[in-house]
Amino acid sequence: MAEFRLPANSRVQAGREHKAPAGASRVRRFKVYRYDPGSGENPRLDSYEVDLDRCGPMVLDALIKIKNEVDATLTFRRSCREGICGSCAMNIDGTNTLACTQAISDINGDISIYPLPHMPVIKDLVPDLTRFYAQYASIRPWLQTRTPPPPPDRERLQSKEEQEKINSPSACILCACCSTSCPSYWWNSDRYLGPAVLLAAYRWLVDSRDEATGERLDDLEDPFRLYRCHTIMNCTWACPKGLNPARAIAEIKQMIAARHL
Ligand code: SF4
Ligand code: SF4
Ligand code: FES
Repeated sequence: MAEFRLPANSRVQAGREHKAPAGASRVRRFKVYRYDPGSGENPRLDSYEVDLDRCGPMVLDALIKIKNEVDATLTFRRSCREGICGSCAMNIDGTNTLACTQAISDINGDISIYPLPHMPVIKDLVPDLTRFYAQYASIRPWLQTRTPPPPPDRERLQSKEEQEKINSPSACILCACCSTSCPSYWWNSDRYLGPAVLLAAYRWLVDSRDEATGERLDDLEDPFRLYRCHTIMNCTWACPKGLNPARAIAEIKQMIAARHL
């Protein structure tokens, strides 16, 4: 795992400048974090002028245009371009968000683009999410049952009200925008699960079909795994899907408190 961590608003030395092509009519400058841990060079901020009249409307469109037409070495993740896969999460103009749903027109002036903060960097805008995914796996994000399965032509049924409880947390795309905006996660990510993983844990805790609620709560009742959340709310403000991990964390704490009454 790479060791470099980017402070949220660190200053990085200026790098190469790429001017817009002659005749460009509507130019915006993108300042993009560049870092290759294996190169021995320090991180730098390269600037790219892009003609918006020849570019799609989203920040990801500009990054793809830069990679295709100016600098093929620029490295970033993307897949769906629809805000569904979560892979294009990065820090744009100071905010963790999805490059594919962030409109260029909603940002004034130069647009700075960094990887998600406080994560090791693999290259440029690609953070190393190994620990994040291991934490996700640790909450066993699948249905756990103890009773015999229903006959093959039947399902484990839910009422409409029961299903609605898992609707919102199931919409999480694991982009990590929330966890990497959480100060508690910045400083304790080795032991604190962080808002994205706790929201996932909540999703299974409130699933009426799951039969491992007690074990799940036992596993979370820990000074670090859960209780490092200090209700700072950055996570909820950061979520590009409009989810509320902070409220889910508060409800998990209430579930645990209710067991001790
Ligand atoms: S509410 Fe909790 S999880 Fe969310 S940002 Fe604050 S400390 Fe982190
Ligand atoms: S809760 Fe929102 S910000 Fe956090 S991982 Fe899920 S979709 Fe991303
Ligand atoms: S490319 Fe899939 S969420 Fe942006």
